[in-house]
Amino acid sequence: MAIPILEINHLTHQYPDGSDGIIDICFSVTKGDFIILVGKNGSGKTTLIRHLNGLLRPQSGEIKLHGKNILKDLILTRKTVGMVFQDADTQIVGDTVFDEVAFGPENLNLQRNLINTKVTQVLEQLNLIKLKDRNPSTLSGGEKRKLTIAGILVMDPEIIIFDEPFANLDHPGTQSLLSTIADLNQNGQTIVMATHDVETLMGSASRMLIMDKGRLVEDGSFTDLIKKLESHGIKEPCTCRIGRPWQP
Ligand SMILES: Nc1ncnc2c1ncn2[C@@H]1O[C@H](COP(=O)(O)OP(=O)(O)OP(=O)(O)O)[C@@H](O)[C@H]1O
Ligand SMILES: [Mg+2]
Repeated sequence: MAIPILEINHLTHQYPDGSDGIIDICFSVTKGDFIILVGKNGSGKTTLIRHLNGLLRPQSGEIKLHGKNILKDLILTRKTVGMVFQDADTQIVGDTVFDEVAFGPENLNLQRNLINTKVTQVLEQLNLIKLKDRNPSTLSGGEKRKLTIAGILVMDPEIIIFDEPFANLDHPGTQSLLSTIADLNQNGQTIVMATHDVETLMGSASRMLIMDKGRLVEDGSFTDLIKKLESHGIKEPCTCRIGRPWQP
């Protein structure tokens, strides 16, 4: 059996006002996984993924990264587990696309030549090289989201976590971002994504976790769990309904 990169053991988080964020969550992430985390609004997806790089701390339970508690070395954790937030704009700090992507490696005090090579490589990989001198504030929503991914990718993370990456993107923007993320996974990048866009991910994601009221209620293959979505209040992709009697 493959050795997990991340092991999430009995994780529980309650917010200070007493609301249950997540309750007794257990699962593991293995190299090459493309996991989507689905569930109704407020089911705990964002709360869970904010624990995966130590942004939130659980009341009980723990997360292990290669066998060690992730809170023991937060710098290593954040380098290994990259996070692309729901609102990509809040992550952008550079004056140009190039500078934005260079920001992380500069903070690691890498040599200038190495930084330039890595940044150029990542901008080429994500098709952003032609925008390298643009001010990030002038980019489209989809381009900004790719820029945020570039800023994470340049740090060579083992896992990239996404929170609703397709929110507010139009169809071409969604398709372009999807193809970027799917290519990364095809090249071995491990991905965990909280999303409401199950249909968009058909054919790309391999595994699905379903959350309900803070609990992880299903963990299995994407194709097996598609049939169970409706019983957890999540809309089944239209393409799965073709040939079945019409239901409002
Ligand atoms: N800062 C907070 N303080 C108190 N309760 C919170 C806080 N953040 C989230 N919650 C509560 O925790 C629960 C889970 O919220 P969470 O944001 O993790 O859900 P989600 O599955 O990401 O929802 P969505 O699909 O709307 O993004 C909800 O009941 C929410 O109201
Ligand atoms: Mg959320």
